Amino acid sequence: MTALLDRPVSGADAALEVRDVTKTFQVARSASGNNRLRALDGINLTVGRGETLGLVGESGCGKSTLARTLMLLEKPDSGTVAFEGQDPFGLKGKELLAWRRRVQMVFQDPFASLNARMTAGEIISEPWATHRGLYKTAREREARLHELLQLVGLRPSDAKKSPQEFSGGQRQRIGIARALALNPELIILDEPVSALDLSIQAQVLNLLNELQEKLGVSYIFISHDLSVVRHVTDRVAVMYLGRIIETGTTEDVFERPLHPYTAALMSASPKLDPAARPAERIVLKGELPSPLDPPSGCRFRTRCWKAQDICAQQAPPRRTATEAGRGVLPAPSLRGDAPAAHAAECHFPLADPVSAGHRPAPAGE
Ligand SMILES: Nc1ncnc2c1ncn2[C@@H]1O[C@H](COP(=O)(O)OP(=O)(O)OP(=O)(O)O)[C@@H](O)[C@H]1O
Ligand code: SF4
Ligand SMILES: [Mg+2]
Repeated sequence: MTALLDRPVSGADAALEVRDVTKTFQVARSASGNNRLRALDGINLTVGRGETLGLVGESGCGKSTLARTLMLLEKPDSGTVAFEGQDPFGLKGKELLAWRRRVQMVFQDPFASLNARMTAGEIISEPWATHRGLYKTAREREARLHELLQLVGLRPSDAKKSPQEFSGGQRQRIGIARALALNPELIILDEPVSALDLSIQAQVLNLLNELQEKLGVSYIFISHDLSVVRHVTDRVAVMYLGRIIETGTTEDVFERPLHPYTAALMSASPKLDPAARPAERIVLKGELPSPLDPPSGCRFRTRCWKAQDICAQQAPPRRTATEAGRGVLPAPSLRGDAPAAHAAECHFPLADPVSAGHRPAPAGE
Protein backbone atom coordinates (compact mmCIF):
# COMPACT_ATOMS: atom_id res chain seq x y z
CA MET A 1 0.00 0.00 0.00
CA THR A 2 2.89 2.30 0.72
CA ALA A 3 4.09 2.02 -2.86
CA LEU A 4 0.60 2.72 -4.15
CA LEU A 5 0.25 5.72 -1.90
CA ASP A 6 2.71 7.86 -3.74
CA ARG A 7 3.24 6.45 -7.21
CA PRO A 8 4.04 9.20 -9.74
CA VAL A 9 1.08 10.18 -11.89
CA SER A 10 2.61 9.54 -15.27
CA GLY A 11 3.91 6.09 -14.51
CA ALA A 12 7.30 7.69 -15.19
CA ASP A 13 10.39 6.48 -13.37
CA ALA A 14 10.81 7.80 -9.88
CA ALA A 15 13.44 10.53 -9.66
CA LEU A 16 13.46 10.54 -5.89
CA GLU A 17 12.16 8.11 -3.30
CA VAL A 18 11.77 8.91 0.38
CA ARG A 19 11.01 6.00 2.67
CA ASP A 20 10.01 6.15 6.36
CA VAL A 21 12.07 9.26 7.06
CA THR A 22 11.94 10.49 10.65
CA LYS A 23 13.70 13.59 11.97
CA THR A 24 13.67 14.76 15.58
CA PHE A 25 15.20 17.86 17.16
CA GLN A 26 16.35 18.22 20.74
CA VAL A 27 14.46 21.09 22.38
CA ALA A 28 13.65 22.34 25.89
CA ARG A 29 11.66 19.78 27.93
CA SER A 30 7.87 20.10 27.66
CA ALA A 31 5.45 19.85 30.61
CA SER A 32 5.13 16.11 29.91
CA GLY A 33 8.93 15.68 30.07
CA ASN A 34 9.58 15.26 26.32
CA ASN A 35 12.55 17.00 24.79
CA ARG A 36 12.59 15.44 21.29
CA LEU A 37 10.44 17.25 18.77
CA ARG A 38 9.32 14.98 15.91
CA ALA A 39 9.40 17.30 12.91
CA LEU A 40 9.17 14.38 10.44
CA ASP A 41 7.55 11.13 11.46
CA GLY A 42 7.69 8.33 8.87
CA ILE A 43 7.61 10.30 5.61
CA ASN A 44 7.00 8.33 2.39
CA LEU A 45 7.17 10.20 -0.87
CA THR A 46 8.02 9.62 -4.52
CA VAL A 47 8.74 12.30 -7.09
CA GLY A 48 8.55 11.28 -10.76
CA ARG A 49 10.84 12.58 -13.51
CA GLY A 50 9.66 15.86 -14.92
CA GLU A 51 6.82 15.99 -12.41
CA THR A 52 5.79 18.81 -10.08
CA LEU A 53 4.76 17.60 -6.65
CA GLY A 54 3.00 20.12 -4.43
CA LEU A 55 3.68 19.96 -0.68
CA VAL A 56 1.03 21.68 1.43
CA GLY A 57 0.09 21.92 5.09
CA GLU A 58 -0.13 24.39 7.95
CA SER A 59 2.82 26.35 9.25
CA GLY A 60 5.03 24.11 11.40
CA CYS A 61 3.92 20.77 9.86
CA GLY A 62 7.47 19.99 8.65
CA LYS A 63 7.63 21.09 5.00
CA SER A 64 10.93 22.98 5.25
CA THR A 65 12.46 20.29 7.46
CA LEU A 66 11.69 17.77 4.73
CA ALA A 67 13.19 20.14 2.12
CA ARG A 68 16.33 20.61 4.23
CA THR A 69 16.64 16.85 4.70
CA LEU A 70 16.44 16.28 0.93
CA MET A 71 19.12 18.96 0.50
CA LEU A 72 21.26 16.96 3.01
CA LEU A 73 21.25 19.93 5.38
CA GLU A 74 19.60 17.72 8.03
CA LYS A 75 20.41 14.07 8.70
CA PRO A 76 17.34 11.92 9.30
CA ASP A 77 17.20 9.84 12.49
CA SER A 78 15.98 6.91 10.38
CA GLY A 79 14.64 6.10 6.92
CA THR A 80 16.13 6.49 3.44
CA VAL A 81 16.27 9.07 0.69
CA ALA A 82 17.33 7.77 -2.71
CA PHE A 83 17.90 8.59 -6.35
CA GLU A 84 17.94 5.36 -8.34
CA GLY A 85 18.49 3.37 -5.19
CA GLN A 86 21.50 5.42 -4.04
CA ASP A 87 21.18 6.75 -0.50
CA PRO A 88 23.24 9.95 -0.03
CA PHE A 89 23.67 9.59 3.73
CA GLY A 90 26.19 6.78 3.30
CA LEU A 91 28.20 8.58 0.59
CA LYS A 92 31.51 10.41 0.89
CA GLY A 93 33.85 12.52 -1.28
CA LYS A 94 33.18 12.58 -5.03
CA GLU A 95 30.08 10.40 -4.80
CA LEU A 96 28.52 12.72 -2.24
CA LEU A 97 29.39 15.74 -4.38
CA ALA A 98 27.77 14.10 -7.41
CA TRP A 99 24.62 13.45 -5.38
CA ARG A 100 24.49 17.01 -4.10
CA ARG A 101 24.47 18.27 -7.68
CA ARG A 102 21.19 16.45 -8.35
CA VAL A 103 18.99 18.30 -5.84
CA GLN A 104 18.95 22.09 -5.67
CA MET A 105 16.73 24.59 -3.92
CA VAL A 106 15.14 27.98 -4.53
CA PHE A 107 14.34 29.92 -1.37
CA GLN A 108 11.36 32.07 -0.47
CA ASP A 109 12.99 35.42 -0.02
CA PRO A 110 14.88 36.66 -3.08
CA PHE A 111 16.14 39.62 -1.03
CA ALA A 112 17.70 37.69 1.85
CA SER A 113 18.88 34.65 -0.12
CA LEU A 114 21.32 36.48 -2.45
CA ASN A 115 24.66 37.78 -1.16
CA ALA A 116 24.61 41.57 -1.62
CA ARG A 117 28.41 41.70 -1.88
CA MET A 118 28.54 39.49 -4.96
CA THR A 119 27.50 40.20 -8.55
CA ALA A 120 24.69 38.20 -10.19
CA GLY A 121 27.31 36.40 -12.27
CA GLU A 122 29.34 35.43 -9.17
CA ILE A 123 26.20 34.21 -7.39
CA ILE A 124 25.10 32.02 -10.30
CA SER A 125 28.55 30.57 -10.94
CA GLU A 126 29.48 30.07 -7.27
CA PRO A 127 28.48 26.35 -7.22
CA TRP A 128 31.10 25.65 -9.92
CA ALA A 129 33.85 26.45 -7.41
CA THR A 130 32.87 23.29 -5.50
CA HIS A 131 31.87 21.23 -8.53
CA ARG A 132 35.05 21.99 -10.45
CA GLY A 133 34.80 19.30 -13.08
CA LEU A 134 31.57 20.64 -14.60
CA TYR A 135 32.99 23.50 -16.69
CA LYS A 136 36.76 23.37 -16.95
CA THR A 137 37.82 26.59 -18.70
CA ALA A 138 36.93 30.23 -17.99
CA ARG A 139 35.50 30.46 -21.50
CA GLU A 140 33.18 27.48 -20.92
CA ARG A 141 32.03 28.96 -17.62
CA GLU A 142 31.32 32.35 -19.16
CA ALA A 143 29.36 30.82 -22.04
CA ARG A 144 27.28 28.74 -19.61
CA LEU A 145 26.69 31.78 -17.37
CA HIS A 146 25.33 33.75 -20.31
CA GLU A 147 23.19 30.80 -21.34
CA LEU A 148 21.74 30.51 -17.81
CA LEU A 149 20.97 34.24 -17.65
CA GLN A 150 19.14 34.03 -20.96
CA LEU A 151 17.32 30.88 -19.89
CA VAL A 152 15.76 32.77 -16.96
CA GLY A 153 14.95 35.87 -19.02
CA LEU A 154 17.91 38.09 -18.01
CA ARG A 155 20.63 39.61 -20.19
CA PRO A 156 24.30 38.50 -20.27
CA SER A 157 25.21 42.09 -19.27
CA ASP A 158 23.22 41.58 -16.02
CA ALA A 159 26.05 39.31 -14.81
CA LYS A 160 28.01 42.35 -13.62
CA LYS A 161 25.20 43.91 -11.56
CA SER A 162 24.72 43.39 -7.85
CA PRO A 163 21.44 42.00 -6.40
CA GLN A 164 20.33 45.45 -5.20
CA GLU A 165 20.08 46.59 -8.81
CA PHE A 166 17.33 44.05 -9.58
CA SER A 167 13.59 43.91 -8.81
CA GLY A 168 12.18 41.12 -6.62
CA GLY A 169 11.10 39.07 -9.64
CA GLN A 170 14.49 39.49 -11.29
CA ARG A 171 16.23 38.44 -8.09
CA GLN A 172 14.16 35.29 -7.98
CA ARG A 173 15.26 34.63 -11.58
CA ILE A 174 18.87 34.85 -10.35
CA GLY A 175 18.01 32.35 -7.60
CA ILE A 176 16.53 30.01 -10.21
CA ALA A 177 19.59 30.39 -12.48
CA ARG A 178 21.83 29.53 -9.52
CA ALA A 179 19.74 26.43 -8.82
CA LEU A 180 20.06 25.41 -12.49
CA ALA A 181 23.82 25.98 -12.63
CA LEU A 182 24.61 22.38 -11.68
CA ASN A 183 22.03 20.84 -14.05
CA PRO A 184 19.97 19.32 -11.21
CA GLU A 185 17.32 16.64 -11.63
CA LEU A 186 15.14 17.98 -8.82
CA ILE A 187 14.60 21.53 -7.60
CA ILE A 188 12.87 22.17 -4.29
CA LEU A 189 10.96 25.43 -4.39
CA ASP A 190 10.11 26.55 -0.83
CA GLU A 191 7.46 29.30 -1.18
CA PRO A 192 9.23 30.56 -4.34
CA VAL A 193 6.75 33.29 -5.26
CA SER A 194 5.11 34.29 -1.99
CA ALA A 195 7.37 37.33 -1.53
CA LEU A 196 6.49 38.65 -5.02
CA ASP A 197 3.68 40.83 -6.39
CA LEU A 198 0.85 38.94 -8.11
CA SER A 199 1.81 39.92 -11.68
CA ILE A 200 5.45 39.02 -11.04
CA GLN A 201 4.36 35.72 -9.46
CA ALA A 202 2.71 34.74 -12.75
CA GLN A 203 5.88 35.53 -14.71
CA VAL A 204 8.07 33.45 -12.39
CA LEU A 205 5.59 30.54 -12.43
CA ASN A 206 5.50 30.63 -16.24
CA LEU A 207 9.28 30.63 -16.29
CA LEU A 208 9.39 27.56 -14.00
CA ASN A 209 6.93 25.81 -16.29
CA GLU A 210 8.96 26.62 -19.42
CA LEU A 211 12.16 25.44 -17.76
CA GLN A 212 10.55 22.16 -16.79
CA GLU A 213 9.38 21.58 -20.36
CA LYS A 214 12.83 22.39 -21.75
CA LEU A 215 14.97 20.60 -19.18
CA GLY A 216 12.73 17.81 -17.83
CA VAL A 217 13.60 18.79 -14.25
CA SER A 218 11.30 17.68 -11.38
CA TYR A 219 9.98 20.14 -8.79
CA ILE A 220 8.81 19.89 -5.22
CA PHE A 221 6.67 22.98 -4.86
CA ILE A 222 6.02 24.09 -1.28
CA SER A 223 3.38 26.77 -0.84
CA HIS A 224 0.64 28.10 1.41
CA ASP A 225 -1.14 29.48 -1.65
CA LEU A 226 -3.48 26.66 -2.65
CA SER A 227 -4.66 28.35 -5.84
CA VAL A 228 -1.05 28.47 -7.04
CA VAL A 229 -0.49 24.83 -6.01
CA ARG A 230 -3.62 23.82 -7.91
CA HIS A 231 -2.44 25.66 -10.98
CA VAL A 232 1.16 24.43 -11.19
CA THR A 233 1.34 20.90 -9.73
CA ASP A 234 0.72 17.42 -11.16
CA ARG A 235 0.32 15.74 -7.78
CA VAL A 236 -0.08 16.95 -4.23
CA ALA A 237 1.11 15.60 -0.87
CA VAL A 238 -0.68 16.95 2.20
CA MET A 239 1.33 17.13 5.44
CA TYR A 240 0.01 17.24 8.98
CA LEU A 241 2.25 17.25 12.05
CA GLY A 242 5.22 15.54 10.44
CA ARG A 243 3.30 13.00 8.34
CA ILE A 244 2.07 12.85 4.75
CA ILE A 245 -1.62 12.19 5.33
CA GLU A 246 -2.87 12.26 1.73
CA THR A 247 -1.40 12.04 -1.79
CA GLY A 248 -3.00 11.98 -5.21
CA THR A 249 -3.28 13.89 -8.45
CA THR A 250 -3.90 17.56 -7.96
CA GLU A 251 -7.42 17.12 -9.30
CA ASP A 252 -8.23 14.21 -6.96
CA VAL A 253 -6.84 15.91 -3.87
CA PHE A 254 -8.57 19.22 -4.54
CA GLU A 255 -11.86 17.88 -5.91
CA ARG A 256 -12.29 14.57 -4.09
CA PRO A 257 -10.28 14.70 -0.85
CA LEU A 258 -10.26 11.51 1.23
CA HIS A 259 -8.87 12.92 4.49
CA PRO A 260 -10.97 15.29 6.62
CA TYR A 261 -7.95 17.60 7.06
CA THR A 262 -7.47 17.84 3.29
CA ALA A 263 -11.19 18.53 2.87
CA ALA A 264 -10.92 21.40 5.35
CA LEU A 265 -7.82 22.83 3.63
CA MET A 266 -9.28 22.53 0.16
CA SER A 267 -12.67 23.93 1.10
CA ALA A 268 -10.89 27.27 1.47
CA SER A 269 -9.40 27.20 -2.05
CA PRO A 270 -11.21 28.62 -5.10
CA LYS A 271 -12.73 26.13 -7.62
CA LEU A 272 -11.02 25.45 -10.96
CA ASP A 273 -14.41 25.33 -12.65
CA PRO A 274 -16.23 28.55 -11.70
CA ALA A 275 -19.57 26.90 -12.58
CA ALA A 276 -19.02 24.12 -10.02
CA ARG A 277 -21.05 24.30 -6.82
CA PRO A 278 -18.80 25.78 -4.12
CA ALA A 279 -17.96 23.31 -1.37
CA GLU A 280 -19.00 24.33 2.12
CA ARG A 281 -16.16 26.06 3.91
CA ILE A 282 -14.93 23.84 6.74
CA VAL A 283 -13.43 25.94 9.50
CA LEU A 284 -10.68 24.08 11.35
CA LYS A 285 -10.97 24.41 15.09
CA GLY A 286 -7.93 24.82 17.29
CA GLU A 287 -4.24 25.13 16.52
CA LEU A 288 -1.84 22.56 15.14
CA PRO A 289 -0.88 20.48 18.24
CA SER A 290 2.76 20.57 19.35
CA PRO A 291 5.00 18.04 17.57
CA LEU A 292 6.62 17.57 21.01
CA ASP A 293 3.46 15.91 22.34
CA PRO A 294 1.40 14.80 19.33
CA PRO A 295 -2.03 13.25 19.94
CA SER A 296 -2.17 9.44 20.23
CA GLY A 297 -3.58 7.42 17.31
CA CYS A 298 -4.49 9.85 14.54
CA ARG A 299 -2.68 13.16 14.89
CA PHE A 300 -5.64 15.06 13.48
CA ARG A 301 -8.18 13.66 15.94
CA THR A 302 -8.19 16.69 18.26
CA ARG A 303 -9.58 18.80 15.38
CA CYS A 304 -11.54 16.22 13.37
CA TRP A 305 -15.34 16.28 13.19
CA LYS A 306 -15.40 12.57 12.26
CA ALA A 307 -13.21 11.33 15.15
CA GLN A 308 -14.33 8.20 17.03
CA ASP A 309 -12.77 6.20 19.87
CA ILE A 310 -10.54 4.13 17.57
CA CYS A 311 -8.95 7.35 16.26
CA ALA A 312 -7.36 7.94 19.68
CA GLN A 313 -6.30 4.30 20.08
CA GLN A 314 -4.81 3.30 16.73
CA ALA A 315 -2.79 5.10 14.08
CA PRO A 316 -4.97 5.06 10.95
CA PRO A 317 -4.03 2.79 8.03
CA ARG A 318 -3.37 4.10 4.53
CA ARG A 319 -6.31 3.53 2.27
CA THR A 320 -6.58 4.11 -1.45
CA ALA A 321 -9.67 5.76 -2.87
CA THR A 322 -10.87 2.35 -4.07
CA GLU A 323 -10.38 0.80 -0.63
CA ALA A 324 -12.29 3.72 0.83
CA GLY A 325 -15.33 2.61 -1.17
CA ARG A 326 -15.07 5.12 -3.95
CA GLY A 327 -15.11 2.42 -6.66
CA VAL A 328 -12.72 2.81 -9.58
CA LEU A 329 -12.52 6.43 -10.56
CA PRO A 330 -11.76 7.40 -14.17
CA ALA A 331 -8.00 7.57 -14.72
CA PRO A 332 -6.88 11.17 -14.54
CA SER A 333 -5.20 12.16 -17.80
CA LEU A 334 -2.64 14.66 -16.69
CA ARG A 335 0.06 13.40 -18.97
CA GLY A 336 0.11 9.71 -18.91
CA ASP A 337 -1.38 6.43 -19.06
CA ALA A 338 -1.43 4.93 -15.58
CA PRO A 339 -4.21 5.74 -13.16
CA ALA A 340 -2.72 7.69 -10.28
CA ALA A 341 -2.94 6.36 -6.77
CA HIS A 342 -5.02 8.47 -4.47
CA ALA A 343 -4.74 7.50 -0.82
CA ALA A 344 -4.98 8.85 2.70
CA GLU A 345 -4.27 7.86 6.30
CA CYS A 346 -7.69 7.80 7.95
CA HIS A 347 -9.95 5.28 9.74
CA PHE A 348 -13.02 6.85 8.13
CA PRO A 349 -12.06 8.40 4.78
CA LEU A 350 -14.61 10.63 3.15
CA ALA A 351 -17.08 9.32 0.62
CA ASP A 352 -16.87 10.58 -2.95
CA PRO A 353 -18.29 14.10 -2.86
CA VAL A 354 -19.74 13.67 -6.37
CA SER A 355 -21.24 10.18 -6.35
CA ALA A 356 -22.20 10.12 -2.67
CA GLY A 357 -23.38 13.69 -2.40
CA HIS A 358 -20.83 14.19 0.36
CA ARG A 359 -21.02 17.43 2.30
CA PRO A 360 -18.97 17.36 5.51
CA ALA A 361 -20.46 19.25 8.38
CA PRO A 362 -18.47 22.36 9.29
CA ALA A 363 -16.27 21.73 12.30
CA GLY A 364 -17.13 23.41 15.54
CA GLU A 365 -20.88 23.04 15.08
N1 LIG B 1 16.48 23.28 14.09
C1 LIG B 1 15.34 23.08 14.74
N2 LIG B 1 15.33 22.89 16.08
C2 LIG B 1 14.19 22.65 16.76
N3 LIG B 1 12.97 22.61 16.17
C3 LIG B 1 12.91 22.79 14.85
C4 LIG B 1 14.08 23.05 14.05
N4 LIG B 1 13.70 23.20 12.75
C5 LIG B 1 12.34 23.05 12.73
N5 LIG B 1 11.88 22.81 13.99
C6 LIG B 1 10.48 22.54 14.35
O1 LIG B 1 10.02 21.53 13.48
C7 LIG B 1 8.65 21.76 13.14
C8 LIG B 1 8.54 21.85 11.63
O2 LIG B 1 9.16 23.06 11.19
P1 LIG B 1 9.27 23.46 9.65
O3 LIG B 1 10.08 24.69 9.55
O4 LIG B 1 9.73 22.28 8.87
O5 LIG B 1 7.73 23.76 9.29
P2 LIG B 1 7.09 24.32 7.93
O6 LIG B 1 6.00 23.36 7.55
O7 LIG B 1 8.15 24.59 6.93
O8 LIG B 1 6.42 25.69 8.41
P3 LIG B 1 6.20 27.07 7.59
O9 LIG B 1 5.02 26.81 6.70
O10 LIG B 1 5.90 28.06 8.68
O11 LIG B 1 7.46 27.38 6.84
C9 LIG B 1 8.24 23.04 13.86
O12 LIG B 1 7.61 22.68 15.06
C10 LIG B 1 9.56 23.73 14.12
O13 LIG B 1 9.48 24.55 15.27
S1 SF4 C 1 -8.57 8.77 11.58
FE1 SF4 C 1 -10.33 9.55 12.71
S2 SF4 C 1 -9.62 11.48 13.64
FE2 SF4 C 1 -8.17 10.92 12.03
S3 SF4 C 1 -8.85 12.02 10.24
FE3 SF4 C 1 -9.76 9.99 10.12
S4 SF4 C 1 -11.76 10.19 11.11
FE4 SF4 C 1 -10.56 12.02 11.68
MG1 LIG D 1 8.81 26.36 5.96
